[in-house]
Parts: sequence; structure tokens; C-alpha cells
Amino acid sequence: MLIKRNSNGIELPFASEITPRHVFESRRDFIRKLAAGSIAGGALLEMAAREAFAATSAQKLAAQPNPAYVVLDKQTSYKDATTYNNFYEFGTAKESPARYASAMKTRPWTVSIEGEIKKPMTLDIDSLLKLAPLEERVYRLRCVEGWSMVIPWIGYSLSELIKKVEPNSNAKYVEFVTLADKEAMHGLNRAVLDWPYVEGLRIDEANHPLTLLTLGMYGEVLPNQNGAPVRIVTPWKYGFKSAKSIVKIRFVKDQPRTAWNLAAPREYGFYSNVNPQVDHPRWSQASERRIGEDGLFTKKRPTLMFNGYSQVASLYTGMDLKKFF
Ligand code: MTE
Repeated sequence: MLIKRNSNGIELPFASEITPRHVFESRRDFIRKLAAGSIAGGALLEMAAREAFAATSAQKLAAQPNPAYVVLDKQTSYKDATTYNNFYEFGTAKESPARYASAMKTRPWTVSIEGEIKKPMTLDIDSLLKLAPLEERVYRLRCVEGWSMVIPWIGYSLSELIKKVEPNSNAKYVEFVTLADKEAMHGLNRAVLDWPYVEGLRIDEANHPLTLLTLGMYGEVLPNQNGAPVRIVTPWKYGFKSAKSIVKIRFVKDQPRTAWNLAAPREYGFYSNVNPQVDHPRWSQASERRIGEDGLFTKKRPTLMFNGYSQVASLYTGMDLKKFF
């Protein structure tokens, strides 16, 4: 990914990253009330307890494990999966999303489904949660930067939703548009990408049963930093194809102009299938480091073609994957 650093190679937080505005404002309000004597001791304790509860409680989400989609690798710890993230809308440092994504309001939330379909619709999160039975699937996620994780996601195949909206014959691609809320996402002030973050899939990729419309992980709803309340996970592609916090799904005729492809077309192709034989122009993609298991000095593990999901190979029959990287 393109990360701007200072001359020492260190990424410095920008002013608004130091404390998110909502935290800062509620703290300021709290201190003002405290100074004015309008908060008594008991109320103080209660407020502190409520704040701690809000910070730690996550809503449970029941799902049936689907053994057909469970990799047997050791699962990444919840802590690692929720504190080492890429979600540039909240800053480019790995720890930034965990620190700042709580500013994003995930309810009410709607996803507008539009374009080349017979039944355009706008669905709220409760409707999405009920659209198909929720499954737990343990997928490998391989980031283009050379690290990987193993995460128990909750959701169902995107094809369940596609079936409902009835694409017409012009629907060749699916575009995912994600939230761009300047109030909540300080990262939008930086022109790292052309916001909003947009990703896309060919319609047959979107319809592949592996493509997961994802609403939860580790038995709970998605944490904000992992793309609440709804995201896509395409485990045979580099992680950046798995767009977070989706607000619009568009069925289109032409290949979508996706955020990373627009930012650096020679580095990030539209397909971005995990492929150990096609190096990134600035680094090899032949091996990877599993977060939480492989230290910086451990020998890296080999990266597998399609991240090990060989069942997708037939989607690319006859295509030169060096050209369509
Ligand atoms: N989606 C949005 N909206 N913004 C982002 O910056 N980063 C991508 C992807 N989806 C990103 C995004 C990248 S580079 C990766 S590797 C994965 O999210 C990381 O997902 P995770 O944090 O849940 O592991």
C-alpha cells in the first residue's frame, strides 16, 4: 500500500488523530459538568461504568458453522484481528482503526442495491441479517503487504443477495461503495485514496459461493475497525478487495474503477488474486507472515495460489494471470 512517512520512515499522527472528536467532546462536556458540580459521586461512578460497558460489550451473533468453508490453520486471536487493521478512512497506521473507528455510527445503516437489476432495493442491517441463514466460515485473509490472518467470519454467500435482486444481462460487474463520512473518518482529509473506497468483482466472482457477505466475526457482530456493519470477504484475493462498511452495491456493465487500482494501477490490479508467481513491483508475493504466529525474524511461510482456494481456478480459465493481475 502507499503510505506516506516522514524522513525517518515513521508515520506520525496528524492533529485530529490524537483524540477522536466525539471522545474529546464528550470528555470536555463531562469535565464541564463535573466542574459545575452537576455530577454527584454516584452518578460519576455510574457514568464511568456505562462508558466501560459501551467500550467492551459486543453484540453476540449466532451462526451455524459451515464445515465446507473452514480452514484448519490455527485461528488468529481476536485481539490481533481487531487491533492490526487496514481501514484508511481511520488513518494509515495499523492501530488507528481500533483507536478511532468507534466514531462511526453503524445503526441506523442502509445498503442501497442498484444498477442493472430487476429489483432495486434498500436494505437495513436487520433485513440483511435475516436475508439468509448466518454461517460461520473460517477463512485465510492474505494482505497484499505480505501478512495473513485466519478469521472466523459470520455471514452468507453474496449470491443469496444477488438472487433476490435479479441482475439483468447487462450486469457484468458488481461495485461496492463504502462509507465516506468526514465527521467520523478523519482519514478522508488525506488524499491517500480517491474517496469513497470502492471495490469491485466480476459478476461470476461475486456469485462464487466463497464470496461472503459478512456481518460478524468471532461469534459477534463486526467490530467497527473490521468493517461494521457489513463488508465483503473474498478470501482468494488480496485483502484490499474485501471492502468494509458498505453503503451501496451497484450492478454495472463496465469494470468498476476501484480505489487502489486508480491510485496505483501498476501495483494493484483489478483482479488481485493471491498469486505467489506475480510479484508486487516493489516486493515478492511468494511468502507471508502469519500475524500472531510468525515473528519478524521467523522464516516466512509460502503463499499459496489463490490463497489455497483452488476451487476458484476455473473462473480464470484461459486468462493470463500475469496480465490480469
Ligand atoms: N475497506 C475500506 N473501506 N477501507 C480500507 O482501507 N482496507 C482493505 C480491506 N477493506 C480497507 C477496506 C485492506 S488493505 C485489507 S488488508 C482488509 O480490509 C483488512 O481487513 P481486516 O482489518 O478486517 O483484517
